[in-house]
Amino acid sequence: MTETCFLDGRGDLAEWRDVARRFLLAGTEPKAIDWRVKNEEQGLFDGAAISRPNSTSLPVVANEACAQVSVPPAFMRLAEAVICHSDPGRFTLLYRLLFRLRQERHLLAVKSDADVVAAHRMHKSVGRDYHKMTAFVRFKEMPLPTGVVGRRRFLAWFEPDHFIVARVAPFFQRRFNDMDWIIATPRGSASWDGESLRVSTEPAQKPDISDETDELWRTYYASIFNPARLKVKMMMTEMPKKYWKNLPEAELIPGLIAGAEAKVLDMGRKQASEPLPFHHRLQEAAARVPAAPVAEAGTIDALREEARHCSCCDLHCRATQTVFGEGPVDAQVMIVGEQPGDQEDLAGRPFVGPAGRVFDEALSLAGLDRRRLYVTNAVKHFKYEPRGKRRIHQRPNMGEVQQCRWWLTREIDLVKPKLIVAMGATALFSLTDRKDRLEDVRSRPIVMDEARTLFVTVHPSYLLRIPDEGRRAEELARFREDISLISRLAA
Ligand code: URA
Repeated sequence: MTETCFLDGRGDLAEWRDVARRFLLAGTEPKAIDWRVKNEEQGLFDGAAISRPNSTSLPVVANEACAQVSVPPAFMRLAEAVICHSDPGRFTLLYRLLFRLRQERHLLAVKSDADVVAAHRMHKSVGRDYHKMTAFVRFKEMPLPTGVVGRRRFLAWFEPDHFIVARVAPFFQRRFNDMDWIIATPRGSASWDGESLRVSTEPAQKPDISDETDELWRTYYASIFNPARLKVKMMMTEMPKKYWKNLPEAELIPGLIAGAEAKVLDMGRKQASEPLPFHHRLQEAAARVPAAPVAEAGTIDALREEARHCSCCDLHCRATQTVFGEGPVDAQVMIVGEQPGDQEDLAGRPFVGPAGRVFDEALSLAGLDRRRLYVTNAVKHFKYEPRGKRRIHQRPNMGEVQQCRWWLTREIDLVKPKLIVAMGATALFSLTDRKDRLEDVRSRPIVMDEARTLFVTVHPSYLLRIPDEGRRAEELARFREDISLISRLAA
């Protein structure tokens, strides 16, 4: 007799495991179970129409509570991935492996076994899907209702091949910890609100979203596209066409490929003194961005808007956008970093990349709420050197810091912080025009004038670059002590 067993089958290992365990304890042969997934015809949203496995339809196991199924940990790791695969045969395959493992304890090491091969193939495909989701999710900002002040909110739509949302959600939680977001997919959704990560397996509808960040993605993509390094086949493997429809930058690809050869020839002909090849396009892209509503003159919003078009030094040519300070205009504490990094340049916000995470952790250990601080940088554009597909941070020079000081001074005038924290030597130079050794001035309040106190500490990126683990831990502890001192000074 064949048992028919219906599962939701949306990447939940526990759902399959509980049923499989009972079949296994009852000694049910793999071919005696017909595993089925709810499908559209059976009514995806109609739970009543479906016979779910329950305690009455499953085999009865005597003394079930005491019965143990011992499974190698390697199987569980494999099953956690395979269960996310969209192939309806995954349940049968996993049960067959489980059943065989009772007699063949080393089955998973037999690399030529057809079941093992099939499971590893599914594992790999799920891994690839996970990787593509981490690379191709594009968030769109959802405006807050008028008059509402709060964290910025973002929405993204993605179409994974498999049921990977729950598996990949913690990655997005770590990476985009400081913003509220929802990722909707036809295979479930995930959301983060700064406190809890929620995952649903319900299919979502594609939302109608597009905003000016699409234009930023296109600008960024075109700026990292190097026609001289174009390898079409590899590019198509890395960015398969099926993802294009949800990637704002994809519409540029055919044109960039078609024009690559001519561009390379042109690059050879051009003099080093000519502007960068993508300079004009960047300028055009900036001009296309719809003008923001006019902010009241003399306010921080007006200053931010003005800074969007800053071209006082050359850094604006290659950066994606100006990264201006953010935080309450009446903040008591202003934090000044060096310049935006790669991720800040894309997000348009300071300290949201790896250095930002070190900073955020130190703040939360010190009990300081970032939303009460005004966080900014000495230099507002990302300075980098393209290396392959990567953009390697370069320290701004004195001229660039001096040019950008105009903005920082205006921010200080408007916010009027009582305590200004310089993180790193560039911030210290921008604020004081002095090139002191950080060690000589750090970790103590320094009176700037009767209204303001300066506090100097290291830059969090410096901590990330220390190669020796022991020393890094020591320096991190010192940095955290500095931040808690700041918290006490602010209080
Ligand atoms: N480093 C900085 O100095 N500022 C940022 O915003 C990010 C990294």
